[in-house]
Amino acid sequence: MIKYLGSKRRLVSVLGDLYERSGSKSALDMFTGTTRVAQELKRRGAYVTAIDSARYSFVFANCHIVTEASLADQAEIQEILNYLAAKPGIKGYFTDTFCHESRFFQPFNGEKIDAIREAVSAEFSGSKYHDILLTSLIYAADKVDSTVGLQMAYIKEWAPRSYKPLKLEIPELFAGSGRALRGDACQLVNNLDSVDFAYLDPPYNQHSYYTNYHIWETLVAWDRPERYGIACKREDAKSEANKSVFNSSTKMPQALASLVGALSAKVIVLSYNNEAWVSLDELVAMCSHLESVQVLAFDSRRYVGAKIGIYNPQGAKVGSVSHLRNLEYLVLAGEKEVIEYMTTPYEDKKVDFGSVSVAG
Ligand SMILES: C[S@@+](CC[C@H](N)C(=O)[O-])C[C@H]1O[C@@H](n2cnc3c(N)ncnc32)[C@H](O)[C@@H]1O
Repeated sequence: MIKYLGSKRRLVSVLGDLYERSGSKSALDMFTGTTRVAQELKRRGAYVTAIDSARYSFVFANCHIVTEASLADQAEIQEILNYLAAKPGIKGYFTDTFCHESRFFQPFNGEKIDAIREAVSAEFSGSKYHDILLTSLIYAADKVDSTVGLQMAYIKEWAPRSYKPLKLEIPELFAGSGRALRGDACQLVNNLDSVDFAYLDPPYNQHSYYTNYHIWETLVAWDRPERYGIACKREDAKSEANKSVFNSSTKMPQALASLVGALSAKVIVLSYNNEAWVSLDELVAMCSHLESVQVLAFDSRRYVGAKIGIYNPQGAKVGSVSHLRNLEYLVLAGEKEVIEYMTTPYEDKKVDFGSVSVAG
């Protein structure tokens, strides 16, 4: 899985347990990102619908959530990956842009990425394994990048991992099937069937995923976009169409309230952290159309970029962060009996939200 801001690695097993205790059969992962949570829900038997606006996220969801493992021939996939890995490197758009104009990857890996991506387009665009191959390529590229996790900047000195050769591996596939949708959650919500369990993990601040992970967007789109800035971001990142309401402090609270209101789900679970623009009380209020609301709090370390500092594109440390731990909250809403049963093992995590004041 890729390095991802706001990835719910530490909460995955809790979310899986909550899903099981809710007695649900179907699940929605509304801002699926890496698909980490959707994968856990699928592993626990759910029919999962995974939604995100990012292209790469849709590719991951097609790979991990839509693909039924028993229908994918692992030997055949491995054979294709071996074939792709043996392609001689090409000095193409990727190498020019992300290895010379900027320094996200070492040129020898950039040339491999160019060659493999080109072959996936030319030879496997109609293959049922297309998105599995792309997922494998992104995971391999992520392991040899030279960043602290975000693609807004690269490290001045090559990161040690960037010297390693790109290695294509078969991504993990799971039994069962599911659905992947790419688009704006605020629009897609209006056409969704009812689900038992809906998990929502929206962005809660100004950090745009479209620019933070622009290289993965470009690797999937393979559209050789015009670029700007030291990080060679996509020119179309400036367009309103690629901006999320969830990155706007003024629009976000209303957008989230409408989204939650429009959801048809027996149980809603919302992720929230104490660096967000809305307060926990506001979030609880958004869920109050359901019979019962509970809040659980988990201590969590911040992402790696925050841990080691803030760097400019030349690699110089230009800032530090005030704290390395923050609280991750889960707001649970649904029938009283169900919510009580779900939260029973988490007595020590329960938050008396009426008395909590969280910085907005
Ligand atoms: C906090 S991350 C989700 C992380 C995910 N739970 C994980 O563990 O990987 C938020 C996600 O929301 C997506 N996103 C932002 N605005 C969106 C929108 N309007 N509709 C759908 N997805 C959106 C981003 O692309 C990003 O993947």
